[in-house]
Amino acid sequence: MYFTSLRLHHFRNYGSLELSPVKGTTVLYGANGSGKTNLLEAMHLLSVGRSHRTAVDREMIAEGESVAFVHGVTQRLDGKHELEVRLYPLIKPQKRVLLYGKPAQRISDMMGHATTVMFGPEDLRIVRDGPAARRRFIDMQLSQIRPSYLKALKRYLSALESRNALLRSARCGQTDDLDAQLDAWDEQLAGAAVYVVEPRRWFLKELAVNAAAQYAAIAENPEETFELRYIGPLATTETPYRQMLAGLKRTRAEDRQRMYTGYGPHRDDLAMLLCGKELRAFGSQGQLRTAVLSMKLGEIQLIENEMGETPTLLLDDVFSELDARRRNALLQSAEGVQTIITCTDRADAAGARADAFFRVQTDGENHAFLMEG
Ligand SMILES: Nc1ncnc2c1ncn2[C@@H]1O[C@H](COP(=O)(O)OP(=O)(O)OP(=O)(O)O)[C@@H](O)[C@H]1O
Ligand SMILES: [Mg+2]
Repeated sequence: MYFTSLRLHHFRNYGSLELSPVKGTTVLYGANGSGKTNLLEAMHLLSVGRSHRTAVDREMIAEGESVAFVHGVTQRLDGKHELEVRLYPLIKPQKRVLLYGKPAQRISDMMGHATTVMFGPEDLRIVRDGPAARRRFIDMQLSQIRPSYLKALKRYLSALESRNALLRSARCGQTDDLDAQLDAWDEQLAGAAVYVVEPRRWFLKELAVNAAAQYAAIAENPEETFELRYIGPLATTETPYRQMLAGLKRTRAEDRQRMYTGYGPHRDDLAMLLCGKELRAFGSQGQLRTAVLSMKLGEIQLIENEMGETPTLLLDDVFSELDARRRNALLQSAEGVQTIITCTDRADAAGARADAFFRVQTDGENHAFLMEG
């Protein structure tokens, strides 16, 4: 898959932009704050409906504007796909998706039209931050590969929110038949959990194999092993529905005390182990980077195997920081993959075998624009 057209309107510091990306490698270079990451963010938004760096969609709308949109056309094996995400700061819904010019029923309908893998400095947070960052990583990647996953996740989170609301209202003494109501929600939640946990298990198992192989190929020390392991109450059970139901029953008294649901895949985590030890605590800066790079390369491989399509690779500010070994691994994986590289100096991308160069600049009104060459 690759983008053949990209249009931005009042998106971040872009007034309006039209770009026809080449199928191969494009380098975007320019000063700090010029708008390079903003452009990658727009492509990421088209692939998963969310920014890679903020949970607040409004932040992506150019200051003072009442609507922003990103429009893209992608070429896939099955033909051309056209999609658009519109963001509104003041009217609801604040985010709308158009497919082939027509409003989509749900945001999740946009999955699968544009597939991207982003690799940027903030990806180290997957290792360093808490479990929520790792769940976000899993959820975003998995949604792209299995569009039905996002619907299943939303169903689970909505049931979870209802159960939590019930626990809160019970605390205020507003509920008489609490146990009966909780029984009903437990069944709903357990049913929905199955469809979250099974794809996660599949995805992490596949990703673990790929990432371990990539790590072994890049690492300088052949003894160094990298392992990903799914951690969660339902991560290994053969009977997730029954286990979830039993777990909810067992922790019900605690849940009533704390007024939220403590058991379930919303608390899942991903263990990242280097030679059997926790990467976050024991890994060096370079080992952390190699691990994250291995996961990204593993993901490209997984998308190719599973979807029969290559994703568009978005490399934000990382190319120049990779040593020759890692850079080569990256270039090898990016062969035949549409790649957008950002860097501050044109020379930083030397060796990337780029097909197109654009300088990202800002005009007198601080609007970004691209100059070819
Ligand atoms: N909603 C917005 N409206 C207008 N401008 C915005 C908005 N959000 C961000 N900006 C501007 O976008 C610029 C940042 O763009 P971006 O993050 O793409 O920079 P960059 O080229 O990637 O820089 P660096 O090399 O430092 O990573 C900043 O100047 C910021 O003020
Ligand atoms: Mg940037």
